[in-house]
Order: sequence, then structure tokens, then C-alpha cells
Amino acid sequence: MAVGEPRRFLITGATGFVGSRLTRRLVADGHDCHVVVRPDSALDELSPVRDRLTVHVHDGTTGGMSQLMEAAAPEVVFHLAAYFVAEHRSDDIDRLIEANLRFGAQLVDALCARERPLLVNTGTSWQHFHMAAYRPVSLYAATKQAFEDLLAYYADATRLQVITLKLFDTYGPGDPRKKLLFALANAAQSGEQMALSGGEQHIDMVHVDDAVEAFVLAGQRLLAGEVTEPESYAVSSGTAPTLRELVALFERASGGRLNVAWGARAYRAREVMHPWRGGTPVPGWAPKVGLEQGLRDMVTANG
Ligand SMILES: NC(=O)c1ccc[n+]([C@@H]2O[C@H](COP(=O)([O-])OP(=O)(O)OC[C@H]3O[C@@H](n4cnc5c(N)ncnc54)[C@H](OP(=O)(O)O)[C@@H]3O)[C@@H](O)[C@H]2O)c1
Repeated sequence: MAVGEPRRFLITGATGFVGSRLTRRLVADGHDCHVVVRPDSALDELSPVRDRLTVHVHDGTTGGMSQLMEAAAPEVVFHLAAYFVAEHRSDDIDRLIEANLRFGAQLVDALCARERPLLVNTGTSWQHFHMAAYRPVSLYAATKQAFEDLLAYYADATRLQVITLKLFDTYGPGDPRKKLLFALANAAQSGEQMALSGGEQHIDMVHVDDAVEAFVLAGQRLLAGEVTEPESYAVSSGTAPTLRELVALFERASGGRLNVAWGARAYRAREVMHPWRGGTPVPGWAPKVGLEQGLRDMVTANG
């Protein structure tokens, strides 16, 4: 999808971290990008490209999704919208089902009415607890698997061609999510003590630019007609330092020391101590940004 070959794309989850970086990249490459947002979505992460995008506000209905799909008329849909929660509470259930199943089902049903339905879907390495072929770490991961099961039906019963990319942890400059590196950066600035677990869990961190490249390659693969059966790929850095090593790398990148109380927090009940290693990369993809370099760039960009 090089410049000079403009394509028409629809992106869900475009206001999120990975989705916004993918959208910015596709716009920068000269493509006609359409995004699906909710009535109250904040478009801040899309502000650099806001005037070069078509924004479709989904009203939550199946009919609304069909109209939107017709108007957007995408050659490929990139589906990144999701609700993530590491350990759910009962009041997360509606949000998990709404975002990860209902919204996705509306999307793919509308997409499959098109002549050539092509979809890049987003899964998670958490579908593979303890390296299993399928064992969800969390209810969130179970909804991701359930959505893949819906896709298996559509791929069998319609012309849908689909690639699922299973992501690991992603990071990069300007990450608005309140995840680990956000907390490390805050603690580095404030000097406050940070309570962490024992820190022996291994974490596979993929730079967001690398993750975005995997989506671009998956889209190209679909457009090239190389996909006949549903395909699934892992977007892994291939390395996984322990949390303790990651904190040490962060300290090196930021040039400061963090005040960490190791073991002050319990591990999660289903902590992933070793990331899944059963997947293969999208053909042609390899991570380019090493963790040390990526952390340095992130610290510099975040000031
Ligand atoms: N990043 C990771 O470390 C990681 C790891 C494994 C898998 N993944 C998967 O990768 C994808 C992108 O992750 P991310 O971390 O970039 O996500 P994120 O920053 O949390 O953004 C989530 C996106 O989903 C949208 N969304 C949430 N609920 C929705 C609903 N009910 N209907 C429509 N849109 C909804 C949000 O829109 P609003 O602006 O309206 O809230 C937002 O655009 C997700 O599918 C995630 O499950 C990510």
C-alpha cells in the first residue's frame, strides 16, 4: 500500500492508541481513511490527521452500521475497537460484550454484504495462557476468541477473507493509556514510591510502529488475494525481559532511578509469567524497533 496506490479503508478503534497510529500511518501513505467512532469518542489522538479523514459516528444500531459501511465503501476494514480489562468485575460484562462481540458482529455482518469483504481483526496473545492452543487468561481474552468464532462462521458462509493479528503489549511515544510505562514515567517524575509485584513475569513489548506495520502488511496480503482461509499471526517482538529488567531498561533510558517497592503488590491471580510463543509473524514482518531504543525515543518524545 505504497503512495501512488491509494486505497479506501475503514478503521475501528481509531481513537485508541494502536488504531490512531495505524490511521495516521495510512493517511500519511496517501490512503482515503474512514473511521467509526461513538457519539462521545474523543478524537484527540487523531488530531494530526483530522482534516484528512472521514469520521462516521455509529449510533449503536445494526442498521446504522449498514448505512455507515455503505457510505464508507472500504476495500479493507481494520477492526481494532475493543474494551480491555485485565481482571473483570461483574459490571464490566456489558462493556466487554458490547465492544468485543456486539459491535464487531454488526461490523462484520455489514461488511459481508459487500462484494469483496476483507477484514484485519485484532486478537490477543492472552488467548493462549500457558502456551495452550486456546486457554483465555481473562474474560476479555475469551471475548476475543468468541469473536474469532463468529468470524469463522462468516468466513465459511460468505466471501469474507480475514486475518487476525494477535498483539502482545504495545508501547510508544504519546501513549495515552494508563498502563505500566505511564505509571513508570509518572513515578520517575514525582519520585514517589511505586508498589509493584515480584517483577519476575516476562513481558513482550512491541513498539507501536512495528505493530502498525503488521496491520499494513496484513491489509496488503488481503488485497493481493493471498488469503483463502482465516489466518492468524502473532505480533511479537520475540524478546521478553522480566518486569525487573524492563524497569532497569526504563531507568537507563530516562537516566533516573525509580523508587520501586518490589513485592509490595501481589501478582494477578492469572498473571502471564511467560508470554505465548506459539504464533508466527505475518509474512514479511519483523520488529524493527529494539526495546532500549524504543524506550529512549519514548522518554525523549514525552519530555
Ligand atoms: N495494546 C495492547 O497492548 C494490546 C494487546 C493485545 C491486544 N490488543 C488489542 O489491540 C486493539 C487496540 O488496542 P489499544 O490498546 O490501542 O486500544 P485502546 O487504546 O484501549 O482503544 C480502544 C478503542 O476501542 C474503541 N471502543 C471501545 N469500546 C467500544 C465500543 N463499544 N464500540 C466501538 N468502539 C469501542 C475506543 O473508542 P472510544 O474512543 O469511543 O472509547 C477506542 O478507539 C484492541 O482490539 C485490543 O484488544 C492490544
